[in-house]
This record gives sequence, C-alpha cells and structure tokens, in this order.
Amino acid sequence: MKLIALMGCSKFGNTTRVVRYFAEQLGKGVDCEIEYVYPADYKIDFCVGCHNCIFLGETKCPHHSQYAPIEKKMMEADGLIIASPGYMFSVMGVLKNLLDHTAYNCHRPKYFGRKAFVIGNITKWQEKSVMGTMETYVSGIGYELSGSTFVDMLPFPLEDKILDKKRNKLDKAARVFAKRLNTTEPRKIGLGDVPVFHAFRNMSSLAPNILKADRRYFEDNNAYDKSRGWYVPAKLSLPVKLLGPLIGRIIRNQLDKMINKERLREADGRTYNELHVTMKQD
Ligand SMILES: Cc1cc2nc3c(=O)[nH]c(=O)nc-3n(C[C@H](O)[C@H](O)[C@H](O)COP(=O)(O)O)c2cc1C
Repeated sequence: MKLIALMGCSKFGNTTRVVRYFAEQLGKGVDCEIEYVYPADYKIDFCVGCHNCIFLGETKCPHHSQYAPIEKKMMEADGLIIASPGYMFSVMGVLKNLLDHTAYNCHRPKYFGRKAFVIGNITKWQEKSVMGTMETYVSGIGYELSGSTFVDMLPFPLEDKILDKKRNKLDKAARVFAKRLNTTEPRKIGLGDVPVFHAFRNMSSLAPNILKADRRYFEDNNAYDKSRGWYVPAKLSLPVKLLGPLIGRIIRNQLDKMINKERLREADGRTYNELHVTMKQD
C-alpha cells in the first residue's frame, strides 16, 4: 500500500524525526511504502483569496499548477500522514498555504476511500489550533480520520526516559493506524460530519450563480437527491439519517433569513457586501 506523508515542517527538524519514527513503527504492522512530500520543496505562491477555486473551480486558481502535483500524489496514494510542528499556535506556514490552496476540497471532497493520520509536534496547549486544523482538513476533504497523536519535542536535549514516553505514545499510535489500514471497512459517517454536507448542499442550491463549482459537483454526484445523506452513497446510522435532514433544514432557514434575494438574483460569482465606509481610503 502506498502512503503520502505530507510534511508541514522542515526536513531537518524534530517533526521530521517524529514522523520517521512513527513510520518505522507503522511498517511493523502494515506493508506500506511511504513517500515524504515537503510542500516547502514546491514553489507555491501564497493564496491570494480570489475564491476562484471555491466558486468557479480549482483549475481557475492562479497557482493551480504549483500545487496540483501534490494533489496528484495524494490522489494516487491509499492513505495520508499529515504532520506539523506548532508555530505561533498554528500549523507551519508552508503547510497552511497548501491547506488554503486545497481547502476547496472541503466544499467538494474527493479523497474518499482513503485513511489519514495526523501527527503534531506540539505542546498540549496547541492541541485545538494545530491538531484541530489538520483533523478538520483531512476529514473535510474526504479521508477517514483514522487517528491522531502529538508529542512535544522541546528544542532541548531531553532525558531518555522522557524520549521513551514519546516513543511509547508513537508506537501505540502507529499500531492504531496500522490496524485501520489493514481493514477495508469504510469510513463511518458521524453526526459531526453531516452539517458540512448539508451546509454546502443547501448553499449551492440556494446560490448556484455564486457557488458554481459546488453546484456542478453536487449535480454530477447526484448529491441533491433527497435520499442522499452524504456526498457519495454511504451506510448511515439511524440518528445520522434522521438528524441530517433536520440539520439541513435549520441551515437552510438560517441562510434564507440572511440572504438578500434581489441581490442574489443578480449575483454572478464572487459578491461583496459594502459597509459604506465614508473615510477616504488609499
Ligand atoms: C517560528 C516558530 C514559532 C514557534 N511557535 C511556537 C508556539 O507557538 N508554541 C510552542 O510551544 N512552540 C513554538 N515553537 C517551537 C517549536 O514548535 C518546537 O521547537 C518544535 O520542536 C519545532 O519543530 P521542528 O524542529 O520540526 O521545526 C516555535 C518555533 C518556531 C521556529
């Protein structure tokens, strides 16, 4: 099996060492070949916030050709390891830039049938901001989030007993991921997954002249079909089946109250809201 390790870190730092150790342990439980991909090796300009990827389609992004080779590797692999140190209570900038460029996948997920594991080199105070960002990304773009773990490799020479604790934590995490990789069981769709599906399904049916690419995606996947509770056919538990449409109706009602229908009719692609600034601007 082929895995991609998306290394949101420096090649020579602690995070690389953490992932390499995890990978070695993983290899004891599953037959896999890992390709290490460092976004820093690719010249990817910063996302300029044009929204073309989301509204019109990713190929309309001015930097599409710069990050497309990484997406190709992700698509061709059976699974993903994504890793980052905590930098300023966030993922490292080089990874954040890639996440911004590929965030359109959260509207139109395509990495179904693949499993992902998230690794952080962080202190526990950064758990929400660093781990949360990577976890939301992988599950949002279609992967099964098979697990996540973090260790804090402080930039000091650490005692062996401290390093042993980190090794144990990574050994355990690797066993969890190996177990999931060895199953063919599909991703479980939980209650936490469905609000995003319903939100984008409703938004794109309400504003097809703005969310043009999402509209095409939902149509092409037959995902506007009322019987569909997820982007692709999936076995859903009874609570998800019952509560999903309810969440969908709540989201639709909220959007309905917020959106100016007349301006929506005239919209074509990206729209702006003016707050009528009277001060002269540069
Ligand atoms: C620019 C920068 C920002 C950092 N921000 C944080 C931070 O917000 N919180 C923290 O606990 N450590 C922070 N650190 C420390 C790193 O997370 C830590 O040294 C980590 O082991 C570095 O991993 P690396 O060797 O893979 O780069 C920061 C380090 C750098 C260089």
